[in-house]
Amino acid sequence: MNERKYEAILVKQEDGLTTIALNRPEKRNAMSPQLHREMYQVLGELRYDKDTRVIVITGAGESFCAGQDLKQYFLEMDSQPESVRDEVRRMARLWRNEMIRTLPQPVIAMVNGWCFGGGFTIVTACDIAIAAEDAVFGLSEINFGHFPGGEVTIVLTEQLQPKHGLFYALTGKTFTAKEAERIGLITKAVPRENLQEETMEIANNLLEKDPLALKAVKEAWYYTFYSPPDVAYEISTLISQRVTQQHGGRPGIQQFAKKQYRPGLGAYKWEG
Ligand code: COA
Repeated sequence: MNERKYEAILVKQEDGLTTIALNRPEKRNAMSPQLHREMYQVLGELRYDKDTRVIVITGAGESFCAGQDLKQYFLEMDSQPESVRDEVRRMARLWRNEMIRTLPQPVIAMVNGWCFGGGFTIVTACDIAIAAEDAVFGLSEINFGHFPGGEVTIVLTEQLQPKHGLFYALTGKTFTAKEAERIGLITKAVPRENLQEETMEIANNLLEKDPLALKAVKEAWYYTFYSPPDVAYEISTLISQRVTQQHGGRPGIQQFAKKQYRPGLGAYKWEG
């Protein structure tokens, strides 16, 4: 992958881990049309990148993401032709919703600072979210006379209880990562000085896992969530058959039978 072609994001690849940093720190990493284009492009490429087994999304500098760029995404886009507006909105929606969810690799949000409005949809889209305890979250749309539009309300109603989500959407009150953890918006809040280390610990855990199995975990989870139970069961059965077929059997269970490892305590040795 040519990492240099991006400007609004920074992409770093190392030992199976690809880290993407939103790179507009002077604008608190607000999402501009260019940033949406670049995220759409990079995630499209990473899907097929065999050197990427885990992805971390974070923010450059001291912010995670201050939401949509209020000038470039709203004010300036209003005067653009409909075709341009549609295209930018399509990419903005796809990368934060469908693309992250359907990537075969697990994606971790490492929330290092401010997270507002549309920034929530990155957190909700990622499979795991770790935040610095002092990171500040807020659904600030109400404060500029609007509401959490686009996908924001949609994904929040899927993931939060109304007494939490509606409360923050109505009041625009900010809250810390500890509260984000309590209401289930993120996986875990950690002291700022441990953010990198704790995220890497999780990334390394995932790097030890069989990529075919990681893909199956994500598929089973999200298809179940969006399907009626009988359909979900059929899909689960098909995924199971496919994984066994791809492995040419059940190598993990074979290794267990030969007492080569204990699945309760760690991953089997898969063939890369
Ligand atoms: N869209 C566009 N520009 C933004 C932005 C956004 N969402 N958030 C911050 N910026 C820009 C500011 O306009 C400013 O640009 P300038 O230096 O060219 O004037 C720069 O980022 C720094 O912002 P500033 O407000 O001075 O930083 P701060 O550290 O004092 O405050 C925030 C940080 C995030 C609390 C504040 O910038 C803010 O409230 N941003 C809007 C958040 C929001 O409502 N997001 C929801 C959008 S859907």
